[in-house]
Amino acid sequence: MTAMTAMTEILYLNGDYVPPAEAKISVFDRGFMFGDGVYEVIPVYSGMLLRGRAHLARLQASLDELNIVNPLSIAQWMEIFTTLIAQHDALSDNVIYIQVTRGTMAQRDHGWSAELVPNVLVTCRTQTYAPQDMQTLGERAVTLADTRWSNARIKTTNLLPNTLLLQKARSMGANEAILIRDNYAIVGTQSNLFIVNDDIIITPPKSNHMLNGITREIVLDICQQNKIICREKDITEDELHEADEIWMCSSTREIVPMTTLNQHAVGKGKPGQMWLQMIQLYHEYKLKVMRAPAV
Ligand code: PDD
Repeated sequence: MTAMTAMTEILYLNGDYVPPAEAKISVFDRGFMFGDGVYEVIPVYSGMLLRGRAHLARLQASLDELNIVNPLSIAQWMEIFTTLIAQHDALSDNVIYIQVTRGTMAQRDHGWSAELVPNVLVTCRTQTYAPQDMQTLGERAVTLADTRWSNARIKTTNLLPNTLLLQKARSMGANEAILIRDNYAIVGTQSNLFIVNDDIIITPPKSNHMLNGITREIVLDICQQNKIICREKDITEDELHEADEIWMCSSTREIVPMTTLNQHAVGKGKPGQMWLQMIQLYHEYKLKVMRAPAV
């Protein structure tokens, strides 16, 4: 496929490559009616997927949890990504979005028949990772009570609690909410949580209440490879408030230093030294991936 401009950008829908305006799906799609589907977001740096296979493995795990059969093989997924990425400038950074819903019902029904055929959407758009303001100033976090369901480990499109909580955080002048459950800080509305206390990095352990982020895994691997101490341990709300540094990480935001929490300065009120070290190591890791695409 020849390179195309953003105007003619195509997406993949159920076997076809079409412009967004021509992408049509039934109103009886279960994703549309019930949020009955799963999704993935994969960062693409200069045409290379960052941990593409780990994202596909998590997609498989999410589909398994919902008893949806994966409609495509790894090779087929990869072929779609390659086709969509080829629309963009080879040096641009992009993000791939995948959505698989259980399929289209004959009419609205909470239950479903095993014969439904999943609906598959894949898009690829240009993404600006780590904007300059965020790097120099950091961002603002607030704590909010976690109102999500108890299977938050599944990456489902049913994100209403997350969107309501993020919107509430924004109305309070913040960029992200850190969700508190039973006095423990668990996760953000769209990111995983790390804190630093006395030069020790801490992140909550995997649980049903947390999506196990691929970016979180990368940070843990970087710590291990560089002999940086990082503990996977529960973080109490008090520990969060006393932290020297707070970071939130995700595929689309990389690692963001939060410099205020509930309008109070975190540490010195600017991105911390440990974050600075980690973001440099993260960028080095990305460069390695770009040189060795099989990661
Ligand atoms: N969300 N926790 C939640 C609730 C998330 O929504 C995300 C990412 C993460 C981080 O996961 P990862 O590092 O694999 O991106 C953790 C994506 C980016 C989104 O919903 O757009």
